[in-house]
Amino acid sequence: MSGRAAGRRGARDGRRAMRRVRRVADVRRAIARWRKQGRSIAFVPTMGAIHAGHLSLVSLARRSADRVVASIFVNPLQFGPHEDFRRYPRPIRRDRIAFAKEGVDLLWEPALEDVYPPGDATRVRVERLTEPMEGTSRPGHFEGVTTVVLRLLNVVQPDVLWLGRKDAQQARVIEQMCRDLHVPVDVRRAPTVREADGLALSSRNRYLDARLRVQAVTLSRGLDAARALLDRGERSAARLKRAVRAAWRDARDVHEDYVAVVDPATLQPVSRVKGRVLVAVAARVGPARLIDNFEWSAR
Ligand code: PAJ
Repeated sequence: MSGRAAGRRGARDGRRAMRRVRRVADVRRAIARWRKQGRSIAFVPTMGAIHAGHLSLVSLARRSADRVVASIFVNPLQFGPHEDFRRYPRPIRRDRIAFAKEGVDLLWEPALEDVYPPGDATRVRVERLTEPMEGTSRPGHFEGVTTVVLRLLNVVQPDVLWLGRKDAQQARVIEQMCRDLHVPVDVRRAPTVREADGLALSSRNRYLDARLRVQAVTLSRGLDAARALLDRGERSAARLKRAVRAAWRDARDVHEDYVAVVDPATLQPVSRVKGRVLVAVAARVGPARLIDNFEWSAR
């Protein structure tokens, strides 16, 4: 490493130190400096409780741009009145260490008033795509998501936005919002990171005790069964759903919220699969509400 590079980068692990900021003005200043240097910027918004899924987004972000900005903000607007906003995990010190290690350059940890200034009166609502699946089960959820993500994007103004396929509907809704509102950002999706047995990583998995953890894996097992049927030529949505549910049958604490077989672009249900399909599930497993999905295309 050259002397100059060593000066910019941490000598020990070869990476730049991570800066932490709270105020909008501080984010803007850091971004402006990078823009002046001609750096491209990738952004990874999160609600913290960082796991390997979040870190995979950072890793992809690093390869997609010169600088990586991440945010941690547990957004009250996207939680329903009976949801887990209050008990949502907030292991902030561990999160900072994990992000710094993974190579985040700037971590934005806004307080409530940094995102929602006093007297704030603006909401962002995407129509149609927000109605099925999560939209039905969690009224107002996506309005909270799009309202916060647009604000974060307006401050960071990244070239690339990284989102996880784990939240397939969320990614589709945000992509549509950026398209409709002419937000000049390239929205990219990252594959779902899973535990060895297939359970999709989620901050909410920590609500599961050992007994529930064993049952939670039936969500991904059900999806595996549906994918195997698709690979063998099955095209009936009803039969795919039946296969998903069959995998849950003996899991007494898994309570279905929905099993959906939809067009990945419109998120509208299909009765027969033609070309591309999104199979998505949501279930309550004890105190946790878990979602999972896969996208499949004929080929
Ligand atoms: P959060 O649940 O913290 O997730 C942040 C990002 O990580 C999202 O894009 C999500 O899809 C992705 N992610 C979560 N689990 C993943 C996994 N197992 N594999 C790959 N990616 C995964 O999603 C949110 O926060 C919020 O709604 C947010 C977009 C930050 C707005 O508040």
